[in-house]
Amino acid sequence: MTISELKQFFKEQLSEIYIDSESGELFSIFCSSILGMDKFELRISQNNIISEEQTEVFKKLISELQSGKPYQQILGETEFYGLQFFVDENVLIPRPETEELLELAISEIQKSNLTDLKILDIGTGSGIIPIVLKKKFPEAKVSAIDFSEKALETATKNADFHKLDIKFIHENYLQENLSEVYDVIISNPPYIGRDEEIEIADSVKEFEPKTALFSPTSNALIFYEKIAEDCKNHLTENGMVFLEINQKLGEETKSLFIEVLSEVHLVKDISGNERFVWGKK
Ligand SMILES: C[S@@+](CC[C@H](N)C(=O)[O-])C[C@H]1O[C@@H](n2cnc3c(N)ncnc32)[C@H](O)[C@@H]1O
Repeated sequence: MTISELKQFFKEQLSEIYIDSESGELFSIFCSSILGMDKFELRISQNNIISEEQTEVFKKLISELQSGKPYQQILGETEFYGLQFFVDENVLIPRPETEELLELAISEIQKSNLTDLKILDIGTGSGIIPIVLKKKFPEAKVSAIDFSEKALETATKNADFHKLDIKFIHENYLQENLSEVYDVIISNPPYIGRDEEIEIADSVKEFEPKTALFSPTSNALIFYEKIAEDCKNHLTENGMVFLEINQKLGEETKSLFIEVLSEVHLVKDISGNERFVWGKK
């Protein structure tokens, strides 16, 4: 089979799950990982013959993709904020909205006069948030909490890969008291309400950890309520908070912080959804 024929086969097999442009992009991603070819090499090698062995690898991949498994989990890695990260079934696959959260946080921290930064990320998953912040602010002391031991193993692997010193804390945030005071608290906690479960794609529910997606109780704001409470005693004067939120609960989430911060903002993502709350003490 030539590369061109394999691409055609790949697209046909996945046509019920992916539109043509998506399966074409996926094919390029897998060719880069399996054949070691970038997009240009791929374009000029359309008539090259693929070995039986490599064809079998692609067939196995296709059946995994057909099962709904996210391609990032199949590859075991993904790109986020221009960096490589290991991902697996124990962590949420990083979403583009979280890149926007980081853009916002980095720009506001740079504008502030905060120094000797102490940063806390709550619900760190694969560790993307503390890793990007530590890269941007190498002098900062960065800590990150998660209650999933397995997620923390992946986060530690990512921090080691990027050679960064981050303090990972294995803790149930909802049940424990913070012991330190931070200049920046940032979080993308589980914020999908149980009543919204029906709206979430089966492939997401089946392959990504439910505890990363869904609020543990019927109260979808439970993490935000605790974070607001923690702002009283665990956020420095002039400290800042950055949160990714449920787009349906923008005003409700913002209102939790009105009393504890001197300024609070509700910000839309590039799709126009109310997606972030941030503020200063
Ligand atoms: C929405 S994911 C965010 C992961 C990562 N920060 C990101 O943006 O991709 C939420 C994370 O919170 C963690 N988590 C859920 N409940 C928790 C709790 N009670 N205490 C600490 N971490 C919790 C989950 O294990 C998961 O890794």
